[in-house]
Amino acid sequence: MRAHEAGALHGELGNRGPAWLRTPDDVNALVPQLWPRGVVRDSDGVLTVSGLNVKDLRAEFGTPAYVLDEDDLRARARAFQAAFQGHDVYYAGKAFLCRAVVRAIDEEGLFLDVCSGGELATALSAGMSPERIGFHGNNKSVRELERAVDAGVGRIIVDSFDEIDRLAAIARERGKRQPVLVRVTVGVEAHTHEFIATAHEDQKFGFSVGGGAAFKAVCKILDDDVLDLRGLHSHIGSQIFDASGFEVAARRVLALQAQIRDARGVELPEIDLGGGFGIAYTTQDDPAAPADLAERMLKIVDDECEARGLAVPKLSVEPGRAIVGPAVFTLYEVGTVKDVDGLRTYVSVDGGMSDNIRTALYDASYSATVAGRASTADPILARVVGKHCESGDIVVKDEFLPADVQPGDLLAVPGTGAYCRSMASNYNHVPRPPVVAVRGGEARVIVRRETEDDLLALDVG
Ligand SMILES: Cc1ncc(COP(=O)(O)O)c(C=O)c1O
Repeated sequence: MRAHEAGALHGELGNRGPAWLRTPDDVNALVPQLWPRGVVRDSDGVLTVSGLNVKDLRAEFGTPAYVLDEDDLRARARAFQAAFQGHDVYYAGKAFLCRAVVRAIDEEGLFLDVCSGGELATALSAGMSPERIGFHGNNKSVRELERAVDAGVGRIIVDSFDEIDRLAAIARERGKRQPVLVRVTVGVEAHTHEFIATAHEDQKFGFSVGGGAAFKAVCKILDDDVLDLRGLHSHIGSQIFDASGFEVAARRVLALQAQIRDARGVELPEIDLGGGFGIAYTTQDDPAAPADLAERMLKIVDDECEARGLAVPKLSVEPGRAIVGPAVFTLYEVGTVKDVDGLRTYVSVDGGMSDNIRTALYDASYSATVAGRASTADPILARVVGKHCESGDIVVKDEFLPADVQPGDLLAVPGTGAYCRSMASNYNHVPRPPVVAVRGGEARVIVRRETEDDLLALDVG
């Protein structure tokens, strides 16, 4: 590698460290925070999950495949449930939803947040009781609202004045009183290690607290007896590590809560502070434990209520990524290995941006490891790319893989449970991979692989 290129690469890699600090041992190591609890290498160096090795999984289910460690998912759900005991934890289904996951979430005692008619249908068809479902969305259709009211959905999170009118009309027509939350924007935007508190809220979601729309929406609902206003809702961002964003948001929401009490004599019994809790995608990420998050969030709500003389409302949160993200890895097969100009090695796998759009869409970082064997070869800097007709079809931007990585190798990418299968596409008419759940030493398909027949079935021209 030429000197200026090494410098450029070092810059790109941030503090991950230059290549010459890596050893073959590092390349084989599984950093625990990146992997589901049930994943280890066996004595032959083959990755196993809940005792099943990935070579056998490939033989039975093919690649690419999303592999879900169900015990890990359940343990993460339970950790949130325990941390927020006495409050409500909604699993945010947009991260990944299928019937098996709905059942697991339900069995672990969580509530469920959905944001479309399709997610609602999935939840109901899996037997989730409707009163434990919250329904989000900035543009729910009349049909979706009707279905939600008819089903008896526990909370509809209203997001616009148009929706308040529509929902009230639907509830009135049915002689029902629908419980709702009002989604507010508090001028806090949080992503990863930073949050920004701004004076205005330039986004499509919610009613602005600063601009007064939130208070107006609350008054409109309080004036209509078919809508039962339970509380305020705020969601500030995603992949958040810095809890101070939640603190600022909670303060602003509770300031509105006090304004409502003073002006209308009503203390709303609930507050929802949304989701967005960060997970580890690389060794550089160090997410907080649910218990620590809960302690901080509950304390700020308690303190702020005390300061404003408010009764402490019931808190709810909506983690999606933090429950399902780390419970899944994607298993790919390497198809080609290309050394480009001594600069970096491109390792092409049999999936790509159709099963994980996050790298292309958000410049997200991921990690990868050769999964079917351990290697004693020196590390090389590699880029894991997909099979799609886009040069931006990147799965893992930078990773140290063993220099002997070769076609036919299995490659595993951890942290792909959230916003991967749920955002998957059929770009280039590539069928979407299955989701294989592993539990108690048994593997089962919970979402089957799409076939070319599935794709052609929609093409009726
Ligand atoms: C309202 C709301 N709640 C919860 C979530 C879940 O976020 P995460 O999966 O990052 O926890 C989202 C994500 O966009 C959201 O918009």
